[in-house]
Amino acid sequence: MKGLSYEEIGDRGLTVNNMNQISDARILNSIFQSIYDGVYVADKDGKGVMVNDSYSRLTGVPASDLLGKNMRDVVKEKIVSDSVTLKVLSEKRTLTIVQTIRNKEFLVTGTPVFDEDEQIIYVVTTVRDISELTRLRNELQHTHKLANQYLNDLEEFKSKEILQQHLEGVVAQSREITKVFLLAQKVAKVNSTVLLLGETGVGKEVVVNLIHKFSDRSNKPLIKVNCGAIPEQLLESELFGYEKGAFTGADPRGKPGLIEQANGGTIFLDEIGDMPLDLQVKLLRFLQEFEITRVGGRKSISLDVRVISATNKNLESLVDEGTFRQDLYYRLNIVPIKIPPLRKRRGDIAPLAYFFLNKMNGKYKLNKKFHSGVIQLFEEYSWPGNIREMENMVERLVVITEEDEIKIKDIPLEIPNIGQPQKTSKLDLKQIIQNVERKIIREVIEEEKTTRKAAEKLNISQSTLVKKMQRLGL
Ligand SMILES: Nc1ncnc2c1ncn2[C@@H]1O[C@H](COP(=O)(O)OP(=O)(O)OP(=O)(O)O)[C@@H](O)[C@H]1O
Ligand SMILES: [Mg+2]
Repeated sequence: MKGLSYEEIGDRGLTVNNMNQISDARILNSIFQSIYDGVYVADKDGKGVMVNDSYSRLTGVPASDLLGKNMRDVVKEKIVSDSVTLKVLSEKRTLTIVQTIRNKEFLVTGTPVFDEDEQIIYVVTTVRDISELTRLRNELQHTHKLANQYLNDLEEFKSKEILQQHLEGVVAQSREITKVFLLAQKVAKVNSTVLLLGETGVGKEVVVNLIHKFSDRSNKPLIKVNCGAIPEQLLESELFGYEKGAFTGADPRGKPGLIEQANGGTIFLDEIGDMPLDLQVKLLRFLQEFEITRVGGRKSISLDVRVISATNKNLESLVDEGTFRQDLYYRLNIVPIKIPPLRKRRGDIAPLAYFFLNKMNGKYKLNKKFHSGVIQLFEEYSWPGNIREMENMVERLVVITEEDEIKIKDIPLEIPNIGQPQKTSKLDLKQIIQNVERKIIREVIEEEKTTRKAAEKLNISQSTLVKKMQRLGL
């Protein structure tokens, strides 16, 4: 077929004289219209000259928006997001782009048609809807992601199971603490220096024990030093040992220090933030070279000791204040493990409460139980002293309460912010009164079972009580 200009076959109106040409043009046109992909043809200037039905069906753009219009204007009017036609006109080669038309994605290929002089006369663009393909691809990606997540969950579950079997006397229920213990288990296998961070009573020492237990050093000593508890002038000789005659009052034979005693094993430097500055230098040297010199001694002693330190202080601010050496901080902080406070992992509260209840029942040969309201109160409390506070409280409750069931009325009112999860240092009279109200109402309801009887006992009307309870979130 030859001799058909776009004016002849374009615009779906055929202007031909010769019968042969008519049938050729009809065939051509019906082929053009029946192609499943969208086809759009522009002339050498980028003006739309032919569009098939599929193009409009796929993109939703009517032929009238394109025919006789320059592609530059079509883009300007934002009918299409981008134009492959214009790119083909400038680059003079076949190009494929992904284009968005009316929120659908299309794979668009533009092909130049050249005349004998190698000049572009048309650009033929085919448009294929890939929204479905994209949707399927996204779905596949999503499925992959889900599968990976399930695999990870499964791994976590498995390691949690293994962890549980090894963690005697340790409660690890929440995701937050499980992560901590799993990390501890992992670093136990390497010799890296570990820094444990967390408020008082969160279980830093528990993690130290765990790391030592899971390490290859478990049958060697684990020496614990509380840097804050040993007087400054003694700490150096305690840690590094001394040679004979080092100072008056010292053992005349000399003495190995705690670091030396930990050789082959682990040394735990607790309250590291309290270490005096001059000792920090000596400790840094040990961490860099794993060598020490005893006080009054000359020779260096090489040691193989794993160092774990802990603090409930903010070491970074100590560094800023100049009371803690930055280089030592970096050395200690190779693997930081942060243990979240109990109020940030409330999932552990109930299991810990029952764990300590069991422990204390065993210790005192008793059989105490918790009223369910007690656990609820525990879950709402902020536990500033964390697990140590809970352990002490449960012990006290087990010992002090008369009846077998520990009730809300047994919980000491000294818990300042009971029923109020946030820790506040300010005394807020309204909140304190509300807390007391909350506690008393809970106690009376616990006893009387119904709001009618409770209201009677409290000498207020039932509706006042119910309103109060709603206001207090009970
Ligand atoms: N996950 C746990 N399961 C059971 N008991 C725990 C757990 N974590 C901590 N404990 C108990 O809580 C108490 C306090 O823990 P630990 O001494 O390890 O806290 P800490 O972070 O070292 O506190 P501090 O900063 O005051 O030294 C200990 O009696 C410990 O056995
Ligand atoms: Mg401790």
